[in-house]
Amino acid sequence: MEKPKVILLLGGPASGKGTQAKILAKRIGYTYLGTGDLLRAEVEKGTELGKKFGELMSRGELIPDELTDPIIKAKLERLKDSGIVLDGYPRNLEQAKTLKELFPDEDFLVLNVSVAPDSLLKRMSSRRICEKCGSIYTIKSEDEKTCDSCGGNLIQRADDSKEILEKRIKTYEDRTEPIINYYKEKGKVKDIDGEPPISEVTKQIEEAVS
Ligand code: AP5
Repeated sequence: MEKPKVILLLGGPASGKGTQAKILAKRIGYTYLGTGDLLRAEVEKGTELGKKFGELMSRGELIPDELTDPIIKAKLERLKDSGIVLDGYPRNLEQAKTLKELFPDEDFLVLNVSVAPDSLLKRMSSRRICEKCGSIYTIKSEDEKTCDSCGGNLIQRADDSKEILEKRIKTYEDRTEPIINYYKEKGKVKDIDGEPPISEVTKQIEEAVS
């Protein structure tokens, strides 16, 4: 059976969907597209738009569709002919409908990664990101400050605090979870238990995709 052209990972903040999406894309030769990374790149440019994004992200809110759509749609249009692993998009029903305008239903597979709120909080507090290459780390001590792959500095994301995470979980429940039912009604969803170690979650995902 042919693989679906667009594989979406849905899951709460810090559920591990970015980690798994990158592993999957590499293994099956698809392009990885993470909208969080795309929007953070705009923040780093320091543009007026980037400043607005940074403000909303640091409050744990979604960025309005009219601001994200032009950036994300342009990127998706460019990738239309390749396989895509999407992380962080769609985030609400309006975005799911926008995606449907670009790709027909038969192109989709949705992986719904579930992790309990306590584990989300634990994962978030020990997460560090390489500011140079974007690699994701789980640190065991605050002495871990350098990326093994490229030597870049490991930093904590501005929205990785307990208060903001709670807001992000609420935003996920209110705005993003309704999409799961939208795709379930179309028969597109496979549930993934995101609690076990990374390699075991990867195994479940490989089975779901093959
Ligand atoms: P985004 O960057 O997408 O953040 P998120 O959805 O909150 O997800 P995270 O990146 O925090 O976590 P993750 O699930 O990828 O987990 P990770 O693999 O890093 O979005 C940020 C913000 O941008 C949003 O709040 C919003 O403002 C805006 N935004 C983005 N897209 C948007 C859109 N489409 N529309 C509007 N606004 C948008 O893993 C977390 C940690 O756990 C890591 O340390 C990792 O090593 C560890 N880990 C992973 N798996 C496991 C495991 N199985 N066991 C133990 N540890 C694990």
